[in-house]
Amino acid sequence: MAGENTKHAHAAGLSAHRRDGSPAEAETMSVAPGTASAGPDRVADPALVSPRRAAPIAARDLLAAAPRRRDSDWDARPCTREDDLGWAAKRAAVTIAAAMLRACDGDTGTHCDDVVHLCDLIAEELGVYGNDRAELLAAAQLHDIGKVGIASDVLNKRGPLDDYEWSLIRQHTVVGERIIRSVPQLEEVGRLVRHSHERWDGGGYPDRLSAQQIPLASRIVLCADSFHAIRSDRPYRRGRSAEAALQEIACAAGSQLDSAIVDALVSAAERLRTTVRSGAAGLTTTLRSRRLVELLV
Ligand SMILES: [Fe+2]
Repeated sequence: MAGENTKHAHAAGLSAHRRDGSPAEAETMSVAPGTASAGPDRVADPALVSPRRAAPIAARDLLAAAPRRRDSDWDARPCTREDDLGWAAKRAAVTIAAAMLRACDGDTGTHCDDVVHLCDLIAEELGVYGNDRAELLAAAQLHDIGKVGIASDVLNKRGPLDDYEWSLIRQHTVVGERIIRSVPQLEEVGRLVRHSHERWDGGGYPDRLSAQQIPLASRIVLCADSFHAIRSDRPYRRGRSAEAALQEIACAAGSQLDSAIVDALVSAAERLRTTVRSGAAGLTTTLRSRRLVELLV
């Protein structure tokens, strides 16, 4: 018990020192060399010890001394709505979230990277620039972030999903919005993610918006997402060719997808093919170009 008391005394003392200064150090320094609390590399000669230098502290004591985190501590740390975040800071937040998703599920991370490239291409075709383009690309990058909360055996199930499993899958856009809105300055990006599975004909989720009610960026993300899903291998089928995927996407124009966006993707793909066939130098020098050629040509 004496040892326990010493440990608690150290813990309390360190805690006091971490908050407001010297008393804790003084208490720690008062432990004589050779006692149970003195570390093996403790300087024995008091003349060589600076009065302000603390003795080595066991890791367990540091842990015991660390003030317990209260939820309100976190509330104060993330940026608040009033903080003026530029796009550099917003991009940093998006990059960290995307890296986390990649670490949890590499395939979904790669899928999101590809959806960003496709959305960028469609945006170029439609003439979407500036802040709208930045928000679109952030939404594309994070559109599946809500899947971190869904069990992998449901996400990667080989057979058909039952009603309950579908209800779980459908929650991912709402969960994603909630995650993204933890940075208040990304509220609009969260809204775009929420609506990234709304269909043009109103048959999507979660709010059954239709046509122009759906934000343009969300419509672009759905088109790119659908195309990429058709192109990709699944546990139960092989991915389709670029040409077949574009044809399938074209069949969904006006029902699931916005026709204008489908047209933009189809014409961008045609132009890319023409460019590749012409052997234009430098086309595949960037990662974006290489991936777009692999996906669309
Ligand atoms: Fe997706």
